[in-house]
Parts: sequence; structure tokens; C-alpha cells
Amino acid sequence: MQSADLPVGVEQPPEAIRSREGQLSPFDWYAEMRAEDPVRFDEQREMWDIFRYEDVDRVLKDHDAFTARRTREDNEFSSDAEDDTGMLQTMITVDPPEHNRLRGFVDERFQPGSIREYQPRVEAVTEDVLDALAGKEQFDFVDEFAIPFPVTVIAELLGIPAERRDQFKAWSDALIARPKNGTQTEIQRIQQERQQARQEMSGYFTKLVAERRGGDGDDFITLAANTEELSREEKVGFCILLLLAGNITTTNLLTNAIWSLEEQGLTDAVRTGAIDRKQVVEEVLRYRSPVQSLNRIAIADVELNGKQIQAGDVVTLWLGAANRDPEIFDAPEEFRPEQRPNRHMAFGMGVHFCLGAHLARMEADVAMQQLLERFDRLDANLSNLDPLYSLYGLKSLPCEVNRTAPPAK
Ligand code: HEM
Repeated sequence: MQSADLPVGVEQPPEAIRSREGQLSPFDWYAEMRAEDPVRFDEQREMWDIFRYEDVDRVLKDHDAFTARRTREDNEFSSDAEDDTGMLQTMITVDPPEHNRLRGFVDERFQPGSIREYQPRVEAVTEDVLDALAGKEQFDFVDEFAIPFPVTVIAELLGIPAERRDQFKAWSDALIARPKNGTQTEIQRIQQERQQARQEMSGYFTKLVAERRGGDGDDFITLAANTEELSREEKVGFCILLLLAGNITTTNLLTNAIWSLEEQGLTDAVRTGAIDRKQVVEEVLRYRSPVQSLNRIAIADVELNGKQIQAGDVVTLWLGAANRDPEIFDAPEEFRPEQRPNRHMAFGMGVHFCLGAHLARMEADVAMQQLLERFDRLDANLSNLDPLYSLYGLKSLPCEVNRTAPPAK
């Protein structure tokens, strides 16, 4: 059995990341590994780590030698062996040619032409989320903007009634919760909550999919309900996948954008249009990739950069390291939105290339535009950053704002 899951690699950081002054800053470690040991076996986690762009690219595109099927039955946070919902096969954990069946029915709806049609709805959601901040001089950018915004967008596109959206967020939180102290009691609690959220969501989407069958709405639930290609369970799995794959990733993109602009003193330049917003989004994706790593399993013996990987071995592909590979990017450790051809792989590569990439880009562009129009200063407090790992962002980003008049509607 397989399940919808996040586009995420390892669950626990390799020791090397943690040991840097207790701070989670993987980039020094990446640089060292890219130069000295770009394909290395971590004895502790019993998996390979791969750091260079060309190697990561090769693994992601070689579907005959590496599978995206769910990994590591022995890791309680990435295996769903205990999931008794008996469903949820989705595109993200399936290889070609089966993958095409699970993705093909929806691909068109995520292409740039369709995404442009959704833009007015995304603009309306942005206004609503910003309106909720009215009158505040301080707010936490993560909790009060970057988390609610993408959840509301995806709920809107799925056609979830507004009154169910809080519930929707609670489910989404439970599904991505990670243990903080790693005690057995905490792990069990998180597993139980995750299981419960998954069952409730499955029940909820099963009902909606049945209700919308034959309907002519343009929402994604109706699209899934009406496709002949998918079983009922696969339709429900698709809905849950959108919620899982599209939220924390976009939250991190937005957070990392404000973090980077404030840190680099570039917020005003973006506000005035001196720096192009779309290039900023691409550079944030490269420089602080919201997904730092992905996993694959070898299904054939392969030689990679002089190392022998055997069928059955798990590999962690460090997108965050590939995105700072000096073979590909000039001055990769610098944030330079305007000065590079940006072939980053923040959205992956190969057949699993992020379905929501164009949507995420548009969301980030619209969000930045409206935020910077509303507030003439953000003053993000960068003194106590606490980056999250693997799905890379911040736990909180306090901002002090000057309010300007909302734009004319
Ligand atoms: C796949 C990143 C936003 C839906 C992926 C993958 C990455 C990724 C790296 C590849 C996973 C793999 O190869 O195993 C991101 C980032 C985002 C983002 C960085 C935001 C900045 C979204 C959004 C949606 C979405 C907004 C949908 C609403 C998906 C889906 C897949 C996927 C469905 C699986 C595609 C497939 O297997 O064919 N994403 N994602 N993502 N993403 Fe995104």
C-alpha cells in the first residue's frame, strides 16, 4: 500500500547539519560534501547522500534505475505501513508508465494558461488574508500570512466551502506534524493524530467526490470525480496530495522570500519594481529551496561518480546542494536575483517535476505584490531565526509594519 505523502526526503537531519554551532545551516556542509565526497554513504542513516547537480539530475531522470515508490519501511514517519485507510495511491509515489495515468488527467489544469485564469481568485484570497491583518502593527509572517494563504488558495481551487477551511488547515497541520523531542509517547501521539486526520479527510473527500460526480463545476474535486482514469480511492488520494504537496512548500517559499529580501536589504527595490519580482521568486527557490531533499530507491545496480549503488539502496538527493553547485551557478552562495540564468531544481526534475510549480510561482508573485503594496515597511525581525529542516523555512518571522492604504478594488 502506498499513500499520498509530501515531496520530501529524509526525516531526521544527518548529524553533520546539526553540529554547526547548534544552528541548522546546511549550506556549509553541502559545499564541503560537493567538493570532497559528493556521493557518500551515511552509515548512521544507512542511505546515500548525493550533492552535485549533475548527479541529482541523473537520478531524478533515470526512472529505470531509481524508483519514487515510498521508501524505508522501517522509518515510522515516511512509511505508511500502518495506515489502515487502504487507499491513497498517488502520482508522487508511482513510476512511469503508471504515473502518467495518475497525472495525465490534471496536467492541463496546472499549465500556465490555466494558472492565468486562476489569478483573479488568488488575488482575492490574498486580499482576504491581508485584510485579516488590518490595524495590526506587528504580526508573525509565518502564522498569519504564509500558512493561511496557500491553504486557502488550494481550498478555493478544490472547491471547499469557506466554512470548512479551518478544519482543512487542522487536517493539513496534523498530516505534516513532525516530532520535536522524538520520545516514543510523542511519536505515538503524532501518528495517532495523523491517522485520525487522514481518515477524516478521506471520509470528507470521498463524500465530496461522490456528490460532485457528473457535475459541471470547474473545481479540482469535480475534475477528479468525473475522470474515468482513476479509481474512487485514487481520486480521494489526489485531493489529499494537493493539500499536502502544495501547502508547507508554498508557505516556505513565501517565508524564505521575505527572509531573503529583508536580509539582503532588497525589499524596497522589489516594491518599486527596480528588481523584478519573478526573478526574485526564482532566486529564492534556488537560494533557499523550500524542499531541500528528496528520496529515491535504486532498483538496479548503478555506478554514480565512482561509487557503486546497489539495487535496494536508498538515496537522498540534496536539491538544496545541487542548487548551489558552482559548476552550474556563478557565485552560488550569493543571492543575486537579476544576474543569473536560473536552472534551479527546486521543483525537482523528470516525470515528477512539481505539478504545482506554475501555481506556486503565481501565488508567490501575487502575494509579494500585494504585501509590498499594503505595507511600506515590513521590518522582519531576523535576530532569532529557527529554520526548519528538509522542508526548509522558518517557524516564525515577526514583522513590524507601517500600514499604507489598501489598493483600490
Ligand atoms: C512534486 C516542490 C508547490 C503539487 C514536487 C516535487 C518537488 C516539489 C521538489 C518533486 C517530488 C519528487 O520528485 O519526488 C514544490 C515546491 C513548491 C511546490 C518547492 C512551492 C514553492 C506545489 C503546489 C502544488 C504542488 C502549490 C499543488 C497545488 C505537487 C504534486 C507533485 C509535486 C502533485 C507530484 C508530481 C508528480 O509526482 O508527478 N513538488 N512544490 N506543489 N508537487 Fe510541488
